[in-house]
Amino acid sequence: MKPNLSLEIEGATVRFGGVVAVSEVSMTVDVGEVVGLIGPNGAGKTSLLNSISRLVPLSAGSVHVFGQNITKIAPYMLPRHGVARTFQVVQPFANLTLRENVAIAAMFSLKSLPKLEAMDRADAVLERTGLTHKAKMLPAEVTLADRKRLEVSRALAMTPKLLLLDEVMAGLNHTEMDAMIHLIRELQQEGTSIVVVEHVMKAIVAVCNRIIVMQNGKKIADGNPKSVLNDPTVVAAYLGQRYVDRQSKTQSASVSGVQK
Ligand SMILES: Nc1ncnc2c1ncn2[C@@H]1O[C@H](COP(=O)(O)OP(=O)(O)OP(=O)(O)O)[C@@H](O)[C@H]1O
Ligand SMILES: [Mg+2]
Repeated sequence: MKPNLSLEIEGATVRFGGVVAVSEVSMTVDVGEVVGLIGPNGAGKTSLLNSISRLVPLSAGSVHVFGQNITKIAPYMLPRHGVARTFQVVQPFANLTLRENVAIAAMFSLKSLPKLEAMDRADAVLERTGLTHKAKMLPAEVTLADRKRLEVSRALAMTPKLLLLDEVMAGLNHTEMDAMIHLIRELQQEGTSIVVVEHVMKAIVAVCNRIIVMQNGKKIADGNPKSVLNDPTVVAAYLGQRYVDRQSKTQSASVSGVQK
């Protein structure tokens, strides 16, 4: 593994019975790089994240992070390797406050923390994600956007060096999305490597150094955003001609209002 890689996946295959959710996917993420992972529903994006985070086993292939083989480690060891993720379907502890939810994550981080320090870290993270004023509320008492922010907060509490984000923009309004984009950029500036799974193209274009496209479990494109988003195979498989037409009309770096 090259020394400047935060993630290296080789030939990853994930099977669910007869369904091949991920088929021989290889990809890398440089240290400090933000890589977008896009593709149609059912393409295998979440399954690939699940295989990195050891929630589903690989039937073939390997995963290295920061030079270490994590293909067979237990999922709870992930934070010790500097890896944290969010879940597409948010999964907070329902009867704990937002602050407690984040503190629990901090307690299981790279360097596990005692309770008081974990609470301090939770406060710092909630400040950063804009949830301080809701810290004492339960997950069910806040909006979906806030629960997405909580999900990101829980991952950040683990002080990850590699962060895997699964659709954290879904359901956010423009202001909330801009705040999330700002946060991702800040994390990158601090040296965090990030994989962004997302259908919201505005966000992908705003934060990604590189884009990987999956379809039917396979990787069909991998390259700089401009070339990937203009690749006819990607347009046919996912983006659609409407996206390309709109792009040429706006002629701007910001992709206004396009979700898919
Ligand atoms: N636990 C599971 N058991 C059986 N099949 C599964 C399981 N998880 C995913 N699949 C199947 O694997 C394939 C890939 O699904 P996956 O959720 O990884 O796609 P995705 O790219 O994340 O889609 P979306 O954009 O809708 O989130 C789909 O055919 C899906 O039905
Ligand atoms: Mg998914």
